[in-house]
Parts: sequence; structure tokens; C-alpha cells
Amino acid sequence: MKIAIINGPNLNLLGQREPGIYGSQGFDSFLEAMRARFPDLTIQYFQSNVEGELVNALQRFGNEADGIVLNPAAYTHTSVAIGDCIAAIKTPVVEVHISNVHAREDFRKLSHVSAKAAGTICGLGLDGYRLAIEYFINRS
Ligand code: DQA
Repeated sequence: MKIAIINGPNLNLLGQREPGIYGSQGFDSFLEAMRARFPDLTIQYFQSNVEGELVNALQRFGNEADGIVLNPAAYTHTSVAIGDCIAAIKTPVVEVHISNVHAREDFRKLSHVSAKAAGTICGLGLDGYRLAIEYFINRS
């Protein structure tokens, strides 16, 4: 089974970026741990700070992967294009947020993604990505 993880803007800075909110682990070591934990899966990874590149990646993985784990980061709250793309592709998407967006500023409560996603996990740290992967394993 192929799973794609797609991360949006500033998530390349995980580990250094606001560690009180996002933790001190970088995504590279987390991804390595996920690949070791789920050796039977092919886990592809894409990160971009650019909205259109995220749309392109969703369209590409929407043809290739069995499930997409997506953290659109700040674009969650602004991007109609990412929401439309999730509605357009066949592959199910689980939306993940590291922080509890509902316990933060009001603008983070709006998601253009949630209504189009199979489900949303937020506030559980990086473990949210593992839970999303397990959702795809359990439903296969
Ligand atoms: C985030 C939450 C967003 O509001 C924020 O803009 C991010 C990260 C999260 O994972 O908690 O960049 O998606």
C-alpha cells in the first residue's frame, strides 16, 4: 500500500519552529521512524511552502497513492484551491494538524479542507500522522 504525506508551509522548520507549539522533533527523523514502524508501506513525502505545488502534489498522489495524509498548515485556513482539489481526487485524504487549532486564534478554526477530508486529527502532535496512517491500514 502506498501512503503519501504532504506538508504545507513552514513545516520544513519543524523542530526549530515554535517548539512550545509544534515540539522539538524535526520531520525527517519522524518520517524515518514511520518508515521503520510500517515496513510494508511505501510512504512518500512531499513538502512545499507554495500553494500551487501542494495542489500539484495532491493531484499527482491522487492518482498514485492509496491514502494521503495532509497537513496544509496555514493554507488550511485560506486555500479554496486545496479544498477543491481534495474534492476532485479519488484518493481519500486525512487532514492532520500538530497543534489543537481550535484552542488557538479564531482564524485557525476555519478549515477549507475538513469538509472535503475523510476526517481530521488535530492537537495530538506528530502522533496524529501515525494515527492517520493506521486509519488507512485498517480500512484497507
Ligand atoms: C498547523 C496549524 C496551522 O494553523 C498553522 O498555520 C501551521 C501548522 C498544525 O499542524 O498545527 O502551520 O497546521
